[in-house]
Amino acid sequence: MRLLVTGGAGFIGSNFVHHVVEHTDHHVTVLDKLTYAGNRASLDGLPEDRVAFVQGDIADAAVVDTLVADADAVVHYAAESHNDNSLDDPRPFLDTNIIGTYTLLEAARRHDVRFHHISTDEVYGDLELDDPERFTEKTPYNPSSPYSSTKAGSDLLVRAWVRSFGVRATISNCSNNYGPYQHIEKFIPRQITNVIRGIRPKLYGKGENVRDWIHADDHSSAVLTILEKGEIGQTYLIGADGEQNNKDVVELILELMGQPRDAYDHVADRPGHDLRYAIDSTRLRTELGWQPKYRDFRSGLAATIEWYRDNEAWWAPAKDATEAFYASKGQ
Ligand code: NAD
Ligand code: DAU
Repeated sequence: MRLLVTGGAGFIGSNFVHHVVEHTDHHVTVLDKLTYAGNRASLDGLPEDRVAFVQGDIADAAVVDTLVADADAVVHYAAESHNDNSLDDPRPFLDTNIIGTYTLLEAARRHDVRFHHISTDEVYGDLELDDPERFTEKTPYNPSSPYSSTKAGSDLLVRAWVRSFGVRATISNCSNNYGPYQHIEKFIPRQITNVIRGIRPKLYGKGENVRDWIHADDHSSAVLTILEKGEIGQTYLIGADGEQNNKDVVELILELMGQPRDAYDHVADRPGHDLRYAIDSTRLRTELGWQPKYRDFRSGLAATIEWYRDNEAWWAPAKDATEAFYASKGQ
């Protein structure tokens, strides 16, 4: 297959491109705007005869039309992805997540190209800490932030384009990813690179918020499974039973990096901060036979710490500006 992967220079998109090259014969064309979150170096070392790179905007109809016409399937990762940024300036989230997705869907419709839309568990809002239920494909949408509301909007566009125009699309909603190539604005790599730089990790509020961690490589294998076996028009939730509260994660990072477990600061909480996400991925496992490979968070986190230690040249250029942004908000 010829895959068009949008956002393939970002965190999860680049992990997906590496996974596809390693596990399939597919050819990949990456379409990425290279915003502050995109990094061409995340695709270094991949064979040129398997991976092509185009710098461009998913909201640019002319570029998108040419690339979609030439693809067998689109795997759509590109997005503005960071909640804290969406609270600061929501506009780019509307432009990319809504208009960009619309632009891609129109091209997929024109050329009858298979479309897989990457989305997030945040579209379902949040859960109480003691809620025995987890998110399923039937949970009503209830997004909290400008980021998650634009992702919810983009999911609904995909559903409408399937029903109204017969676009051959599937959607997946995944929980929090960790692993290599994640921008250091995000929780886990921010704390790892803080420790490397001698800065104390920063925990929002009390740190009792729960995220359901999955390794990015398991997200990639799930997406490939849905692309190959998923039923058109359906949504699949992706998760690996990885619930952890933020306090435990910070303490584990400190322990794995040889620091006292309490060597962190509590800082200003995120406005509207979702309390807990938790995914029930039964459908993906039973209907499509997918299973996660990374079941031990401690060893997955230790390998991620090693990656950031070994790849300082990849993240160092963004560190000062990222910390200056957080400092301006008391975080
Ligand atoms: P990221 O911010 O690391 O990467 C986003 C990529 O998209 C970057 O390479 C950026 O340059 C590119 N991009 C942004 N705007 C663009 C535009 N207008 N045109 C073309 N390219 C553009 O994000 P990520 O964490 O890798 O997330 C990827 C996708 O996965 C997003 O759709 C996100 O909603 C979803 N998701 C993320 C997580 C997570 O834990 N990070 C979990 C579930 C779902
Ligand atoms: O659930 C999937 C979502 O996970 C994706 O849709 C988003 O694209 C992705 O960014 C992520 O969203 P979160 O807001 O959960 O991730 P973030 O890494 O920003 O924060 C994770 C948790 O850690 C959250 O409860 C806020 C907290 N936090 C974050 C930072 C940056 C801290 O306590 N300290 C920090 O410095």
